[in-house]
Amino acid sequence: MSKALNLLKWSATLGKDEQNFLGARWIPAFLNRVPERSRRKWALRILDLSPHYFLSPDDPKYKGLSKDEYLEAVFADSTRSREDIWNEILAAKIDGEGTVIDYGCGPGFLTKAVSSHVNKIYGVDISEGALACARVVNSGANITYTKADEKGLSLVPDESVDAVCTFAVLQHLTDEVASMVLKNISKKLRKGGKLVAHVQLSTETWRSEAEWRSDTSVKGKIKFKYGLHCFGRSRGEYTDLFRSNGFSEPVFEAVANMVAVAHEPLEGQFMATAVKL
Ligand SMILES: C[S@@+](CC[C@H](N)C(=O)[O-])C[C@H]1O[C@@H](n2cnc3c(N)ncnc32)[C@H](O)[C@@H]1O
Repeated sequence: MSKALNLLKWSATLGKDEQNFLGARWIPAFLNRVPERSRRKWALRILDLSPHYFLSPDDPKYKGLSKDEYLEAVFADSTRSREDIWNEILAAKIDGEGTVIDYGCGPGFLTKAVSSHVNKIYGVDISEGALACARVVNSGANITYTKADEKGLSLVPDESVDAVCTFAVLQHLTDEVASMVLKNISKKLRKGGKLVAHVQLSTETWRSEAEWRSDTSVKGKIKFKYGLHCFGRSRGEYTDLFRSNGFSEPVFEAVANMVAVAHEPLEGQFMATAVKL
């Protein structure tokens, strides 16, 4: 699909805040109204409208499938990929924890993968539409999905959480929003609680927020407003972000050293682990 069509599709689902893909109010209302027997099919179709999930329509392994068969195949692959992330990356860090938050949970694939290994998990996301889809396709007895705003987060008692994981999230946030997110996480974590964050360091393709903002052409401005933000940061910048929001200095581990098989280029991908001071 052309870039212009993608921007159009993504902007049609935006909530009132920028970058809130699938945040439009019609999404949860629509999903509530469709008959239960077709709710899953529609949840998958809606997830396909976001720049965050279901990103591989041109992968030859999906060739020849109908749209709904393709969505089910991507659902199965996303489930497997988040189970791999649990097994290869997160299990060593948070297995057996009591209460956990998956921050920026999206459709809840990682939330679901973690849920069988902890007592309770909150899937937290800014997008009401993503949360509505998560409730349909990735629900579970010990899972609560809630919005990452003041009202939604009030469901989670302050200092009650033992560990927070966040995967493929911080790199999509401006410094200002990332700082707010880390503050929210710090407020919910108990002292000594662990933050395990997937981060993307700057590379050729992952440019800094300042570089994105320096493109003041019309195209650059439209991309910044309606496209998905993808910012690289240095270790030092991540360290400052963590430290200034109540965390210890993070330990960085390359994702490439943790996984058996790389399904995508892993250059610059790290896990940053820190504790709440
Ligand atoms: C690339 S997706 C990752 C989803 C999930 N963590 C995974 O790995 O499958 C990034 C998610 O971050 C969410 N997000 C963006 N800004 C956020 C914010 N300020 N607070 C919470 N979630 C946010 C998006 O809505 C989206 O669901």
